[in-house]
This record gives sequence, C-alpha cells and structure tokens, in this order.
Amino acid sequence: MKSWHVDSWRSKPALQLPEYPNAEHLAHVEQAIAKMPPLVFTGEVNALRQQFAEATAGNAFLLQGGDCAESFREFSEDTIRDTFKVMMQMAVVMTFAASVPVIKVGRMAGQFAKPRSSGVETHNGLELPIYRGDIINGAAFTEASRMPDPERMIRAYHQSSSTLNLLRAFAQGGLASLEQVHEWNLDFVSNSPQAERYGHLANRIDETLAFMKACGISASHTKELGETVFYTSHEALLLPYEQALTHQDSVTGKWYDLSGHMLWVGDRTRQVDGAHIEFVRGVENPIGLKAGPSLLPEELIELIDIVNPDNTAGKVNVIIRMGADKVVEGLPPLIRAVEREGRHVLWSCDPMHGNTFKARSGYKTRQVTRVLQEVKSFFEIHQAEGTYAGGVHFEMTGQDVTECIGGAREVTEETLGNRYQTHCDPRLNADQSLELAFLIAETFKSCKALRSKSK
Ligand code: PEP
Ligand code: CO
Repeated sequence: MKSWHVDSWRSKPALQLPEYPNAEHLAHVEQAIAKMPPLVFTGEVNALRQQFAEATAGNAFLLQGGDCAESFREFSEDTIRDTFKVMMQMAVVMTFAASVPVIKVGRMAGQFAKPRSSGVETHNGLELPIYRGDIINGAAFTEASRMPDPERMIRAYHQSSSTLNLLRAFAQGGLASLEQVHEWNLDFVSNSPQAERYGHLANRIDETLAFMKACGISASHTKELGETVFYTSHEALLLPYEQALTHQDSVTGKWYDLSGHMLWVGDRTRQVDGAHIEFVRGVENPIGLKAGPSLLPEELIELIDIVNPDNTAGKVNVIIRMGADKVVEGLPPLIRAVEREGRHVLWSCDPMHGNTFKARSGYKTRQVTRVLQEVKSFFEIHQAEGTYAGGVHFEMTGQDVTECIGGAREVTEETLGNRYQTHCDPRLNADQSLELAFLIAETFKSCKALRSKSK
C-alpha cells in the first residue's frame, strides 16, 4: 500500500468539492483551523472504535441519527436538546425491549457538507452553483450566497464546538439519567400512540429503578444509570476542513480526524481511487462506507481492504442504503462476499437515502412505510445469511416537522407543506422515529430469539 499523508488525498481525483474562488483565502482559513483546538479527543475515538468492535461481534447495536444537514439558521439549544431526547428515547426502547447495549452516535456537531447530484441549479434562465451545505455556501438563490466561502468553515467549526459542548453537558449533566426517562417525551408527541407505548415502557423502567434503589443501586452513585456517552459523526466530504482538524498523536504517531468521532464516505464519493477514500484510509476513526445499489461485491471488498488493511474489527461500518426494493437483491451478494473473504464489518442500515421521491406538490419526501420496510428486510436478510444486523442510520429530528409521509399522527401528501423545514433531505419527526425504534426493538428481539434457538 502506498504511503499515506494527511494531504495525500490532494493528488487524487476528488468529486463533490467546491471550487473556491480564491485559493490563498482558502489556504489561510485551513491554516487558521489547523491551529484551533480539536473538537474531540483521541481517547474518545479509540473508545468508539472499541464499541464498534463490540457491535461487529454482535454484542451491541449502533444507533446513528440526526439532521441530513445542520444549518447556521437552525442552531439553537432547542433543536440540539430535542434531537438528543429522541435519540435517548429510541436507545432506551431498544435497550429495554431487546436487551442490547446501544451505541449512540449523532449526525451532529459537524454534519454540514452535502454531496449533490448536480453542480448547478437553474431558475428562470439564471444558472448558479448548487447549494452544498452551510459550511460551503448559502441556500439563498443569489450569486453572492452561492459563492463558496472558506470563512464558513470557521463558523461551522465554532457551531460544532458549541453543539458538542451542549451534547456533553446533556450526556453527563443529568438529562441522560435513566431517572429522566419520562422527561425525554416531547410535548407534541404526548397524545400519540407511540407516546402511550413509550409511557408504559418508562413506567416499567421506573419500577425497575425503584427496585434497584431499594437494593442500594441508584443513579447518584452508579455512572451507567446517571449518564451516557454520546458520540458525533458526519460525512467526511469537505476534505480541506477534515485535513485541517486531523492531528498526529504524539505518543503513537497515529493520525486522528478530530472533527468528530466517526466519519463516513458518501455513496457518491466512495471511488476506490478517489480522494475521499484516500483521506479516510489514513485516520484511526471508525469509518462508514455508504453502500448504494451500484456497489459491486468485489468493489466493496477492495474498499474494505484499502480502509482497513489489517482487518481489525471496529474500523469499518458498511451502511446499506439501497431502497426498500433494491435491498432484497442487492444486500445478499455483499454479505456473502464479506463472509467469504472473512472481513470484519459492522453492518448498518440507512433506510432513508434509497427511498426518497418527489411528491406531486414538489416536496422531496419519504414514505415511513418504505423506511420501515427497508429496515425489516435488512434484518431478515441478515437473519437468513446468518450474519448480524448491527445498526441503523437515520435522518431525524426532535422537531415536529412534516417532511416524511405516514406515521401514527399521519403526515399526508397534502399536509407535507405545514411544517416542511429541511434545507436538504426530509427527516423523520420524533413520533415517526419512535415508531421505528419500537419496530427495530421487536425485530431485533425475534432475530435474537431465533439465533439462540439455532445455537
Ligand atoms: C447522507 O447521508 O446525507 C447522504 C448524502 O447519503 P448518501 O451518500 O448515502 O447518499
Ligand atoms: Co441526506
């Protein structure tokens, strides 16, 4: 394998990167960011890798979720807290119902850059560069706003830093305590069937905690009950930013991308000889590889070998995002190739990106039933292949949005416009996310029962 350096990606073809108008300005910003403190710590990255190794072995489950893209405008305590709460609810549903430790990873504190299917957008004869996420340019359709501006990286860095600060406070300062399990319910969900179901589960947790307290075990002196660990992740798309936050550990000499704990490479930038794969192969962080329907089994093995030549468990997470129909044919050959070659992979399912369509009203949306179907098929296929379905990856929010169609408090094609707030892809709202968590917990439980029967 050729030697790697933090900038060796620069000699490779790089898709989806913006063209900055002023190279000197860009270089200046990159140098400024490189001098700023890292956002996460190498010890945390190692800990997450260890957790991923557990999930790869079938002893834990990965829950990854958050916005399609964070934005400068929707940056507030409320949005961060509400997404955190929904993730906690989903995790507790899975942990309690399926008796599996859940690794919580937010698409947060750095998820700003977006791959796009076209480089330009045209309105009334005016052609402008496409919006690529707030870390690159602005969403407004004006020439000034669409011009890539490196200063945006600095703003994204500071926003990520504040977001992480709050997430750490929530995780360790009391909000994540199991004694708060009722508090995680968001007000607007409170009259839905999911909320009722969740209420029952929370009551059972309360009873269990009361029993444990009587036995002398309580959140005040048992860390596991009183706090949690919440990791962050984003797509490693904007390589100048990622490089600037990549540091070499002075003791081990290993490189870490300290812009977030986990990174993934998108379905559009995962070329074996491309810049993005070149970059991620050199860092210690756990790496997600998005796998869409066009990924061939031999190509997947090649990618895995580039990213994880030592075949250590916990490094590679293959994120399947084929769509509810295509996953049925597309996933088994990938699993079989990985099994045949004996590669250690954590398999997770992103049931969002293969199920997007445009509603008649023009809104980009997803049907909750299709999302549920892809998750179900993902589990069933792994069950049939004798492999472990180790995680899920969602675009979701704690806000009461109407972006995906369906759910118990039903969003319809007609009501999509009521609270459609995303700049990018449609997200599940809190209610829809919780519904999914219950489905996953049930499916997981029955797979587990079948597994132990067949042993
Ligand atoms: C994403 O996760 O936001 C994304 C763009 O995914 P994909 O690369 O799988 O299309
Ligand atoms: Co998306």
